[in-house]
Amino acid sequence: MKRALFFGKYCATAVLVLAAVSITMTAGAQKKKKGTTPSAAATTGLSKENIEAAINDAYNANKDSKEGKNADYIKELANVDPNIYGIALVTADGTVYTKGDLDSRVSIQSISKVFTLARVIEEHGAKYVMDKIGVDATGLRFNSIVAIELQKGKEINPLVNPGAIAAVSLVNGADSAAKWKNILQTHDEFAGADLQLNGPVYISEAGDNLRNQAIAHLLLAYGRMYFDPVQSTDVYTKQCAINVNARDLGIMAATLANGGVNPITKKKVVSPETTAFTLSVMATAGLYDDSGQWLYAVGLPAKSGVGGGIIAVCPGKFGIAVISPPLNAAGNSVKAQKTIYDIVKKLNVNPYLVQPK
Ligand code: DON
Repeated sequence: MKRALFFGKYCATAVLVLAAVSITMTAGAQKKKKGTTPSAAATTGLSKENIEAAINDAYNANKDSKEGKNADYIKELANVDPNIYGIALVTADGTVYTKGDLDSRVSIQSISKVFTLARVIEEHGAKYVMDKIGVDATGLRFNSIVAIELQKGKEINPLVNPGAIAAVSLVNGADSAAKWKNILQTHDEFAGADLQLNGPVYISEAGDNLRNQAIAHLLLAYGRMYFDPVQSTDVYTKQCAINVNARDLGIMAATLANGGVNPITKKKVVSPETTAFTLSVMATAGLYDDSGQWLYAVGLPAKSGVGGGIIAVCPGKFGIAVISPPLNAAGNSVKAQKTIYDIVKKLNVNPYLVQPK
């Protein structure tokens, strides 16, 4: 059954906020017709002042929220400080705006699926990924076995666990060490940093990932696992344990916002075409079974991880990342969702929100 999360438990607030946005925009449009200035609530232009104000306001509005709970099915994640709260917005031309905790690092978890997917598309092409994995959203939980069964291994989606483990199995590399090296280097290039493995998180999950191993074996049975299932699951577990802070994630998101070129290092990581395909999958499946609700409210492709991070991408403009470990029932950070929602609303960058000419 579909639970409502960001817009379930928090449904009343969200509906009110959406209603308020719509009222503000209507009022703004009416004022404009009469020749007066548009409403201040709909900030236009990504000036330094506007971005800083949007980040500060969102930070202050959400900093005291205690909603959600750290993931604990990976035991080490329960020990992470739930008060970590960092924001980084990085523009496509490389200006970095930050607020809050930039020192603390958390494991990237499922956000890594984005960068491995991008690597596989870059290496093998978009059609190959569609044929070998599939790109339709499952609409089910991120580690659903039923989703595999329903499709007999087809359409397993690279941003949920089955498709992500299959993506690892497809990454270039003759053995698991070479695949891991390729994946880590891809993450490093997206971040423009020498990222490290979070050893305790990796050990904690690797010792307890029988469900993901079962997923990999079921895919093998359906002919949809393309490398050893135990080793693919292990490399997948490692990629999920890459440690990042909000700034690292913000730059990774900004590389996607900038057509695959890291705006800080200027290195081309993947092509603009690969980036576009990757963003499309983020839009349809980035927040798991809450992806529809997210896109409905925010309008930007995004990706969450159970470590507490979320990235969102405003193509051509900026990438944004927020880290806050407490999650809702779908496994998405409560505070990160709200923060990104607030910033996107304030900056008026939902690409679907267009005032008629
Ligand atoms: O495989 C897992 O369950 C984790 N390593 C990653 C899951 C995850 O991040 C889902 N997130 N929302």
